[in-house]
Amino acid sequence: MEIRRVVVIGAGQMGGGIAQVVAASGREVALLDSQAGATDRALDAMRRSLGRLAEKGGPPADDVVQRVRAVDRLQDADGADLVIEAVAEDAAVKEEVFRQADEVLAPHAILASNTSSIPIASLAAATRRPERVIGMHFFNPVPVLKLVEVIRATATSDETAAAIVSLARDLGKVPVEARDVAGFVSNRILMPFINEAVHALAEGIADAEGIDTVAKLGFGHPLGPLALADLIGLDTCVAIMDVLHEGLDDPRFEPAALLREHVAAGRFGRKSGEGFFSY
Ligand code: CAA
Repeated sequence: MEIRRVVVIGAGQMGGGIAQVVAASGREVALLDSQAGATDRALDAMRRSLGRLAEKGGPPADDVVQRVRAVDRLQDADGADLVIEAVAEDAAVKEEVFRQADEVLAPHAILASNTSSIPIASLAAATRRPERVIGMHFFNPVPVLKLVEVIRATATSDETAAAIVSLARDLGKVPVEARDVAGFVSNRILMPFINEAVHALAEGIADAEGIDTVAKLGFGHPLGPLALADLIGLDTCVAIMDVLHEGLDDPRFEPAALLREHVAAGRFGRKSGEGFFSY
């Protein structure tokens, strides 16, 4: 199945990045967000990112941005072959998006989720086309990082999986298939790492700078776990860990109290200007 037109729902840092890489592949993208100003902010971020990539031989920013159209309603994008949902990591919100997309989009359209942790089967159950529902999980910053986790639920058809694997490759990404279990592979590994760094900070084993320096200089990571948590968003980290904790029923995945404290105080990381570090 050929995917020419794509709708991205949610214009945060992930949705904006996804819209950018899809448009850079020559496809038409409709970008939708319920929050006023979100699509404008995403288009600005896209221009900045494309400007950096153009310096290294990427396509001119304007050529890519002109293929992204901000829309106010899903009905304005009804010719789409694929929806990629990238709204907040909240199962009820995502299920509602899937229910609406299923109502509005043509029967052939695939409904994909960029969820970091929520089982795809629960989103598929909100639709009448479970064979066309799949996980397509990108990594932040989307224009730079090459991985796409592809998650098939039990009902996902071979044709849907093949179309998404092929699209991921066409976007210049490397797809890795993972089973439909809370957190998949990526967050099953990443979140306990981040959480343990937060426990180490709370126990005073080292300060935030020190903990991140250990990961950068000792393990060769480009960012330390605390700076990475700030990049992902501390609220998103807690939401993912809550899904892991509940879905896997294992206390290892319980978010550290300090992480919850930051979120309760509105310190979400880079996006709010404060997290484990100041921005
Ligand atoms: N668009 C375009 N180019 C970008 C960019 C963007 N948004 N962000 C960074 N770059 C480019 C820079 O221009 C730079 O290019 P050159 O090397 O050619 O100069 C290069 O990437 C490196 O950037 P910086 O020099 O600014 O800084 P850095 O070396 O620290 O790299 C980083 C930044 C790419 C974010 C790097 O630190 C990194 O890869 N960090 C790890 C991020 C990570 O682990 N992300 C996954 C989070 S988990 C997730 O997303 C999913 C989930 O489910 C939670």
